Amino acid sequence: MVREEPYCLVCIECGAKYSPSEIIYKCRRCGNLLSVEYESEVMTPEVSERWIKRNLSVWRYMELLPISDRNKIVSLGEGGTSLNKCPRLGGEFGLRSIYVKNEGENPTGSFKDRGMTVGVTKALELGIKRVACASTGNTSASLAAYAARAGLECVVLIPSGKVAFGKLIQAIIYGARVIQVKGNFDDALKIIEKLCSTYSIYLLNSLNPFRLEGQKTIAFEIWDQLGRRVPDKIIVPVGNAGNISAIWKGFKELYSIGLISKLPEMIGIQAEGAAPIAEALKKGTEKVRFVEKPETVATAIRIGSPVNWKKAVKAIRESGGLAETVSDVEILEAQRLLAQREGIFVEPASAASIAGLIKLTRRGLIERDEEVVCIATGHGLKDPDVVLKQFPRPVEVEASIESVAEMILTHNLKADRVVSAEM
Ligand SMILES: Cc1ncc(COP(=O)(O)O)c(C=O)c1O
Ligand SMILES: [Zn+2]
Repeated sequence: MVREEPYCLVCIECGAKYSPSEIIYKCRRCGNLLSVEYESEVMTPEVSERWIKRNLSVWRYMELLPISDRNKIVSLGEGGTSLNKCPRLGGEFGLRSIYVKNEGENPTGSFKDRGMTVGVTKALELGIKRVACASTGNTSASLAAYAARAGLECVVLIPSGKVAFGKLIQAIIYGARVIQVKGNFDDALKIIEKLCSTYSIYLLNSLNPFRLEGQKTIAFEIWDQLGRRVPDKIIVPVGNAGNISAIWKGFKELYSIGLISKLPEMIGIQAEGAAPIAEALKKGTEKVRFVEKPETVATAIRIGSPVNWKKAVKAIRESGGLAETVSDVEILEAQRLLAQREGIFVEPASAASIAGLIKLTRRGLIERDEEVVCIATGHGLKDPDVVLKQFPRPVEVEASIESVAEMILTHNLKADRVVSAEM
């Protein structure tokens, strides 16, 4: 007898149910997105007793992940990223409890790995041979790595000339078939969606609900790392809007299970030039008007038609949160500040959450004692060009003690020398 899985796919709008063994991304009845929902037998607080016996990672929470055969998990050691308290950054803005969850520590340097370990494992379960995605860079890097690990063929579509260098070379070295599309991410996603529904290629963009299941573990980890508590606010950079929806789903599941009694406010941050969700919510409407030509230095969130907009709007509304926009200048300033005050180097899209934190604090929307977690979604080394364009090249001197000493002293470090000499 075939065992019934303790989860199924449910339409977020009309509630239609689908078997998890079906290859389906949108509801056949109404065209809306799907979500993985679990039976009550797994939604119990007892699951957490098993979690404590495992390391902090995506798979610590395997009871709430939609995978049938645990022996076939495709993993590179994803999750278990650090949650850094940031007193120097927070202190600058009068905030006492600021944390940064550093998703750049994942195997390919972004939170996408949490989704791909689940999505690619699912692909194997479904007997898939070829996987694909459209990407602003990180999804392609991650999918390419996990596909290689699983022995699957991988195709990625990227917007021509708009993907950060580090991400492009990741997809290439992992052996993906990389195709540049003369258009933006939204164009590329439409094309790959169509191709995946026509040919037998498995789509691993964030409209695939299994991927978001992996990403919801960000919520579980934050709760674990704070000593089984929930912060007041979570700030998330928003592009295609899957991650904010996934993190909210994670917290809601902890709540339904009875492991937490309060939920955090979800705050979504978009770049000014690519902010359909934030613009709508700021105007007080849920009518999201897509941006035809999105533009921002934060290429990872350069998205005008976020496919998960409905899920994200719901997450922000239900949680009592809000959405805000930040300019490219604010993003780059936040990137520098986080690196120089806390030693955490993130890519521009990730710095959008810090820029949002600063902006909302200045507006009085974040208070001194509130506990806030900013999600730093991807590593700074992915996009070195952005840094090189802003900072001068290091000075060059002759290879002599005198030249180096002279350079140091002209940079006003005399005081340091005196102090150390006295010690
Ligand atoms: C570094 C980084 N931050 C944020 C995002 C936005 O995530 P989402 O598309 O789930 O909103 C992405 C998506 O590509 C990303 O790569
Ligand atoms: Zn439906």
